[in-house]
Amino acid sequence: MEQALYHPEHGYYSSGRCTIGRHGDYFTNVSVGPLFGQLLAAQFAEIWEQLGKIDNFVIVEQGAQDGQFARDVLQSTQKHAPEFFASLRYRIIEPFPILQERQSRTLKSFGDKIEWRDSLQPFAGVHFSNELLDAMPARLIRGAIEKLVDLEGDGFVFVERSLPQGATASKPSRENNAFNQPALDWIDNVVSKLRRGYVIAFDYGHVGDEFQGNVQVRARHRHLDSPFEQIGHADITMHVDWTRIAQRAQANGLRVAGFTDQHHFLTGLISEPGRGDWGQSPLPEIGTSPKMKRELQMLLHPEMLGCSFQVLALAKNVDPDSPRLAGFKFARELRYALDL
Ligand SMILES: C[S@@+](CC[C@H](N)C(=O)[O-])C[C@H]1O[C@@H](n2cnc3c(N)ncnc32)[C@H](O)[C@@H]1O
Repeated sequence: MEQALYHPEHGYYSSGRCTIGRHGDYFTNVSVGPLFGQLLAAQFAEIWEQLGKIDNFVIVEQGAQDGQFARDVLQSTQKHAPEFFASLRYRIIEPFPILQERQSRTLKSFGDKIEWRDSLQPFAGVHFSNELLDAMPARLIRGAIEKLVDLEGDGFVFVERSLPQGATASKPSRENNAFNQPALDWIDNVVSKLRRGYVIAFDYGHVGDEFQGNVQVRARHRHLDSPFEQIGHADITMHVDWTRIAQRAQANGLRVAGFTDQHHFLTGLISEPGRGDWGQSPLPEIGTSPKMKRELQMLLHPEMLGCSFQVLALAKNVDPDSPRLAGFKFARELRYALDL
């Protein structure tokens, strides 16, 4: 997964070959249209207010691809919440030069509002990601057996090996599992850089014992049977184990501010138009534009993206219950939702 997605020359992401949207390999919330960014902009504005309308509020995005989400958020904020817009900076964490180039083209009109870094730096504000965690390389472990990749003739095959004695301490406690160490390292790193604020991650995954560690391979809107097909031209993802990520965050001193599916999260946001200074909501436009209605349906509908995606929010040095973020207005009680 590491080589297929991130090899400097041949990797699906690092080579810039990945294309998202109707003419690409798959849809994401961001590729549906600007509505997703507009709704999230309202959530970020609420967080800014909760942090006391600080100057230098930073929105950190990781996995920004071609910068479309950043543009949607900044355009919406500029139009609907100028005071917030004046206080914010947008920081993209982008290790791949070809993607940074595309992002700077998309975001040209925002000049020095945007900054790029190749790794996380200290910040106060919000860390946002959409489908970042599922793209992190995972190990396939079932009980004491690990599946590895080997070469047979000209092709790759899976082989099974027993985990070495003593390695069990670092393997997951649940059976039938995959082990995503990079996702756990990532949360450790985000926690160490976040001074005050939230981490909000959208992705598809499971909680508790539902988690099976499924690998998905997608290209041109088709699911492929094997990760060894179209290597470097297909996306390989692993469902996210939300429970383990939340537990790791808690062990690092973060509080879980909310967890729910995308349907409930966006419904919560829509039902809270114009809290505080946000005043004007981008939502009235939904009623008037057929395009917006289509976008909303795609994001919300349980059989489209509404129920396959979940949202996890984590808080540091801020009380996530005063008030609870609008997106979690309809969320179930946490310990049930996350099986903590
Ligand atoms: C599935 S795509 C999602 C793109 C975009 N967020 C969207 O929703 O359309 C995953 C993205 O994560 C990026 N990525 C993976 N690991 C990363 C890392 N460590 N830092 C920054 N971006 C990363 C990839 O380059 C890719 O752009």
